[in-house]
Amino acid sequence: MEVPEKFASLGLTYDDVLLLPGHSDLAPADIDMTSRLTREISLKVPLVSAAMDTVTESRMAIAMARQGGLGVLHRNLSIEDQAYQVDLVKRTQTGIISNPVTINPDATLEQLDKLAGEYRISGFPVVDTDNRLIGMITNRDLRFTPVAEWATTKVDEVMTPMPLITGHSDITRDEATVLLRKHKRERLPLIDDAGHLTGLITVKDFVKGEQFPNASYDGAGRLMVGAAIGYFGDAWQRATTLIEAGVDVLVADTAHGNVRMLLDMVQRLKTDPATKHVQVVGGNVATKEGAQSFVDAGADAVKVGVGPGSICTTRVVTGVGVPQITAVYEASLACKAAGVPVIADGGLKYSGEIAKALVAGADTVMIGSLLAGCEESPGDLVFVNGKQFKSYRGMGSLGAMSSRGKKSYSKDRYFQAEVESDDKIVPEGIEGQVAYRGPLAAVAHQLIGGLSQSMFYVGAATVPELQEKGRFVRITQASLQESHPHGVQMTVEAPNYAGR
Ligand code: XMP
Repeated sequence: MEVPEKFASLGLTYDDVLLLPGHSDLAPADIDMTSRLTREISLKVPLVSAAMDTVTESRMAIAMARQGGLGVLHRNLSIEDQAYQVDLVKRTQTGIISNPVTINPDATLEQLDKLAGEYRISGFPVVDTDNRLIGMITNRDLRFTPVAEWATTKVDEVMTPMPLITGHSDITRDEATVLLRKHKRERLPLIDDAGHLTGLITVKDFVKGEQFPNASYDGAGRLMVGAAIGYFGDAWQRATTLIEAGVDVLVADTAHGNVRMLLDMVQRLKTDPATKHVQVVGGNVATKEGAQSFVDAGADAVKVGVGPGSICTTRVVTGVGVPQITAVYEASLACKAAGVPVIADGGLKYSGEIAKALVAGADTVMIGSLLAGCEESPGDLVFVNGKQFKSYRGMGSLGAMSSRGKKSYSKDRYFQAEVESDDKIVPEGIEGQVAYRGPLAAVAHQLIGGLSQSMFYVGAATVPELQEKGRFVRITQASLQESHPHGVQMTVEAPNYAGR
């Protein structure tokens, strides 16, 4: 039968395909999951948490960045609140403190003690009026001066003066670790060629660094964070305020991204001298043509997914969407040619689908439901029949778009910003709950572990190799049934499989 042109090609999704196993000589240590999030940012772990108000606020963003992924802060918040969330992430676990609190040599020990209490720190670089490093002073130095004399004793009388063990401003993390270990120092001040203080490294922060070897850092050693923006009303002000707060990635995000106003927003962000240094993701699209529009607008990555999400009803409410494997593949045809990474957003139910998304053409995946049950997601635990749950809702749900509870800031994601009355809202998502899953570290471990196994089975040591080598086999409903546990009653829930 001839297929009329009106019927586009067959649409496939995660459950329609499996990856073919390939020859593999790999050991787990050979596997490197580093992948490109945007044109300029790579992540050691290709996972991104969804910009949803039951998934990503600062706690989740911090946890995601520590695991080597990235959190995208949702935008159902006032501009100030969202910028504050960015600030909270940027101030966490500073590998290198680029603007350390300092003290001048003429200050008294009493003043020093007050400063230490205020900032809850125990050691300060001492600098002259020209910000040149002249010594270090720590709590230990105070111990040898009776408290009664603190008001009259000056910092330079008890500090350890130069020469000190210092690092150069452009020191790497590895070089700093060697220096700190060799000299058994708690702190390493960094100076430029003229002796000006440019930063401070503390052992404490480095220990945290060792705990999170994959963590996603910016150039100044701070955790990276993304934040969602729209196109409507004060969206430009939102974008610039987030940039001022230090956001690394702006995600210009609507349920249907291929619209003039959002494309214009991306284009403006990538051309305005005040904003173009920030990485901008555009989405969501589900076709080659949609992805091309964002590539042409200058986006640094394109986010793909119209309706695959676990809480989405876009496809049933509007009849529009593309099954996710096909959508990712089609979008990647436009993106690959331009060197623009693809983010596969929504629809992931199991770890094995991360590798499927990457083989289809994605570079990273965005996840909602699999992370909504984590300790770090916003919202309290709910007990139902003795089991623990956390709420999870679509950003197009009535709850997220209505004024119920508090003002909604994100109705424009579904092009309903100007709908004033709640009973005129047309929801495109549902409100529900997911099982509590504990800390993100444990959940991420299973997702990362699953991906690592996928790469081993395919025989790919890197993500680009996985993308190149990976081949799909299309499967039937009967095969899907065979893939899942069958004919057995599950008695114990696995940490990475809760059933179908
Ligand atoms: P998962 O499957 O990971 O999907 O839970 C998360 C993604 O779903 C999208 N999203 C929605 N899509 N209506 C929709 O059609 C909604 O209410 C909605 N809320 C979120 C979004 O792309 C998210 O990352």
